[in-house]
Amino acid sequence: MNRLLPILLAVTIGSLVATASFAQIPETYTNLKLLPKDIQKRQLMQRMRGFNKALGVKCYFCHKGEEGQPLSTFDFASNENKHKVVARTMMTMTREINTKHLKDLGSKDNPARISCNTCHQGQKHPEEKPE
Ligand code: HEC
Ligand code: HEC
Repeated sequence: MNRLLPILLAVTIGSLVATASFAQIPETYTNLKLLPKDIQKRQLMQRMRGFNKALGVKCYFCHKGEEGQPLSTFDFASNENKHKVVARTMMTMTREINTKHLKDLGSKDNPARISCNTCHQGQKHPEEKPE
């Protein structure tokens, strides 16, 4: 039990922090141009966490807000951060590659698809590598 206690505490604190930061994110969205306007918060956050992971960044990389400050102080709808604008272009590009260029590749069960991570792999700046 003595050994488990710190682990239990860490898990509890970890999930409290996650719940607290989730609660700081707005429930309704005013500036969605590509994602469905009535998207559920849970789905939106899944996409946003996917972006964080694919690029190896945190929310402030694309959104107006200060590193280390609570998410309640962020203005997520703002387009002031140029990385958010680039991210929209990237979303459109990824979608077009999937729906146009890869349309007839792969199989029904395993369609050919790319995602942010196909190129980024945890990096902000994917590098062109020699063949
Ligand atoms: C790689 C850039 C990127 C990262 C990282 C990112 N976002 Fe976003 N976020 C976007 C883009 C682009 C949109 C707008 C999508 C659209 O226009 O449909 C958006 C939209 C949003 C919105 C909706 C705002 C509104 O009212 O229209 C919220 C809330 C949000 N993001 C929260 C987050 C949170 C929380 C994180 C970190 C967990 C995060 N984002 C990380 C790019 C990013
Ligand atoms: C086909 C490959 C590819 C895919 C797929 C892709 N990206 Fe990119 N992305 C790039 C390249 C190349 C750059 C430019 C890197 C540089 O500036 O050196 C870039 C740059 C960016 C930047 C700007 C980084 C900066 O520091 O200015 C953001 C933000 C970004 N991508 C987000 C995304 C998101 C979000 C997705 C998925 C919706 C995505 N990318 C999918 C190749 C890709």
